[in-house]
Amino acid sequence: MAQRIYFIVLFISLQQIKTVVSLNTGILLCDAEFCRNFVHETGCSSTSPNCAINNATHTGLRMPSPTMCNCCDFCLPFIGEGEHCSVGGPGLGTTIGRCGHGLSCARETDGNFCRRTQNDYDNRQSKGEVGVLEERPLCDGKGMYASFSCVPTQTCFCQSEEGKRIFGEVLYLGASVKDNMHCGCSRFHEKMKSIRAGVQYPVIGPRCTSDGNFNPIQCIDNICYCVNRITGEIVTGSRRTIDLNEKPITELECYDTQFDLFPQQSVGIPPFNHTTLCLDNIQDRIDLLMESEELGFNVNHASSIPECLPDGTFGRVALSRNRSKICVDERGNPIENYEALSNTAEYDSMDCKCAQTFLLMSSSTERPVCCKNGNFRRIQCRRGLCRCVDSDGRQIGKENADVTRLSCYTENWRTC
Ligand SMILES: *[C@@H]1O[C@H](CO)[C@@H](O)[C@H](O)[C@H]1NC(C)=O
Ligand SMILES: *[C@@H]1O[C@H](CO)[C@@H](O)[C@H](O)[C@H]1NC(C)=O
Ligand SMILES: *[C@@H]1O[C@H](CO)[C@@H](O)[C@H](O)[C@H]1NC(C)=O
Repeated sequence: MAQRIYFIVLFISLQQIKTVVSLNTGILLCDAEFCRNFVHETGCSSTSPNCAINNATHTGLRMPSPTMCNCCDFCLPFIGEGEHCSVGGPGLGTTIGRCGHGLSCARETDGNFCRRTQNDYDNRQSKGEVGVLEERPLCDGKGMYASFSCVPTQTCFCQSEEGKRIFGEVLYLGASVKDNMHCGCSRFHEKMKSIRAGVQYPVIGPRCTSDGNFNPIQCIDNICYCVNRITGEIVTGSRRTIDLNEKPITELECYDTQFDLFPQQSVGIPPFNHTTLCLDNIQDRIDLLMESEELGFNVNHASSIPECLPDGTFGRVALSRNRSKICVDERGNPIENYEALSNTAEYDSMDCKCAQTFLLMSSSTERPVCCKNGNFRRIQCRRGLCRCVDSDGRQIGKENADVTRLSCYTENWRTC
């Protein structure tokens, strides 16, 4: 079975609401007479007063009203700086109006949060308190976090607009990261999470590659397309579309072995596949839920369906045969012998983030030291200087040649 993709497009536009009135006799034309009657019988709902005021703080744009024949007055108010706005989304309600010229809607809790952490960094730097492997936070034009964050000499990983680490990591290669790490696919999945609560069934998004970009091959049912790795848009042309009932994805012009996690799906006889066990599992659960709902069962669907990583795999922490957790790569192969036994604190907190970084840096001589469970050890040392790091391996505070003087120092620091 091929992967099914459900794309959700949410957009609200007042101009979108068209009115076509037809009677048995034909088309009813809008005229002054019609509007007089309409206003008399239906009335007009109140609209923003901003258009009538039009001073420095209260402005708006007159538009056709979203009523039959546009009979009523309608004013779309411009939202001023610092006033409440909504970015939309199910269950959030919508604020009528749009941001005034040069303004954009930033969430109240995180608006300019990136700028603030940037200022904090600059402050500390002027006092000489910044660590050697600390990077100045990168913000976008709206004051939100840039699409990725780096640990110099180590790796770069994707982050959400709010600065939360998300799927996607590459080796740190200096300035060229900016050209290659867009994290568009990874961020798409992150946005989907926020709308997931409002939809009845889980939404299977586009397939990403381990760097957070779009997988060059995306399939909808059994038809596969080549897409732009950065935007996810379908590119047309010969050898850029195939039907899995006839040909495998290896026939596509954009096929690249490094992104094909399951090459065995392209050998043998048709039908070929471009799916993963995790996605198949979710699809089966969705089908089952739909079936039981048709039969009248009331099922709590949201919580019972597991999630896959944006690359379609189960995750980088896997359960071994003897019920311990191990760290695995994107193809499911164990990384070194990172392991945590059940009923231990190491088991519960296991994230394998250090193990992933360790694997990416396989050709480097300065790989991070990981705990037994694949998490970052709190103290990392490099070239005679030690530093405290967070769970993503990012330096916290200044480094020191003497580990006992670090704020995160504990006696058993070597063994986590
Ligand atoms: C604009 O008009 C509103 C409503 O009359 C008033 O409250 C506000 O103070 C005015 N602003 C300016 C800058 O004049
Ligand atoms: C593709 O999946 C179908 C259904 O699971 C299976 O019957 C078929 O053998 C698979 N094809 C290949 C080439 O693995
Ligand atoms: C569990 O299996 C792994 C190998 O998969 C082995 O290294 C480990 O020692 C086993 N743990 C226990 C408690 O048997």
